[in-house]
Amino acid sequence: MGLVHVALVVLSLLSAGQSAPVTSCESLLQPLEIQGRDQLLGRWTYIAESTDIPGARTLTKMLIETTWLNITAGDNNDTINIVQNQKTMGLCLSVSSKLTLKNNTISREQPYPGSAILLNTGCPDCLVFYANYTIGQSTYKGVQLLSRRPKLSDTEMEEVTKQMMCLNLPKPVVLDPEKGFCSESQGRTFDLTDTINSMGSDQFSKLDKIFQSEGGVQTLMEMITSAVARINSN
Ligand SMILES: *[C@@H]1O[C@H](CO)[C@@H](O)[C@H](O)[C@H]1NC(C)=O
Ligand SMILES: *[C@@H]1O[C@H](CO)[C@@H](O)[C@H](O)[C@H]1NC(C)=O
Ligand SMILES: *[C@@H]1O[C@H](CO)[C@@H](O)[C@H](O)[C@H]1NC(C)=O
Ligand SMILES: *[C@@H]1O[C@H](CO)[C@@H](O)[C@H](O)[C@H]1NC(C)=O
Repeated sequence: MGLVHVALVVLSLLSAGQSAPVTSCESLLQPLEIQGRDQLLGRWTYIAESTDIPGARTLTKMLIETTWLNITAGDNNDTINIVQNQKTMGLCLSVSSKLTLKNNTISREQPYPGSAILLNTGCPDCLVFYANYTIGQSTYKGVQLLSRRPKLSDTEMEEVTKQMMCLNLPKPVVLDPEKGFCSESQGRTFDLTDTINSMGSDQFSKLDKIFQSEGGVQTLMEMITSAVARINSN
């Protein structure tokens, strides 16, 4: 009887919503119900990500120091606006996008089509997005981990790493908060929204061909380094 009692206590704790570590792939890949738009709003730190875009891991590690998001309510009750503030090679870049929240799925059309759901997590102040996106002719998938905190515990990181493994994604790139965040008030911020939204489908196809090509990482690295040098010299 002792064991049954202990088991019941454990079960009741679990069902009381205590955050217990989630372990099997089945439970790790449970979609989480989005409890309305408000759950998503506010400031979020981009903790880690993993995608199956070839070379993404290397490029992210080399190019992205930190990222945070400001999510605000959109004009309609099912839309949200996201401003992504990204520190890249010491520069502050921002990109705004509009997303729609419908049927537990967040989707966007610009700059490229994508949709995401939230995955189950034991982290109390995190969002774990599982997303699909279409770039050129290819469809990629990825997991993004956001938190209200700048840094998570090892246990929390292990859980999301397992989620990525369950989806056959590579190990995550974890961004380092020590590298500092771009703030909306400080210094110059380059807003890339219009530039990115004006990219045509031919440019996304070209980008995708570079991702898929041998030496694609090197090519993109050179393109981005020279673009950043151009921005810096203006
Ligand atoms: C997020 O954006 C809103 C609207 O532009 C602004 O009022 C708010 O201060 C921003 N939040 C942060 C944390 O910068
Ligand atoms: C959003 O607005 C539509 C139309 O005005 C309404 O039917 C719907 O119930 C609203 N949804 C929420 C979540 O408030
Ligand atoms: C809502 O999502 C569920 C589960 O993904 C799907 O089966 C259903 O068709 C969707 N409904 C609409 C109206 O898109
Ligand atoms: C991603 O696309 C696959 C295949 O179309 C689909 O089964 C899956 O539900 C999609 N996931 C999300 C998060 O939209």
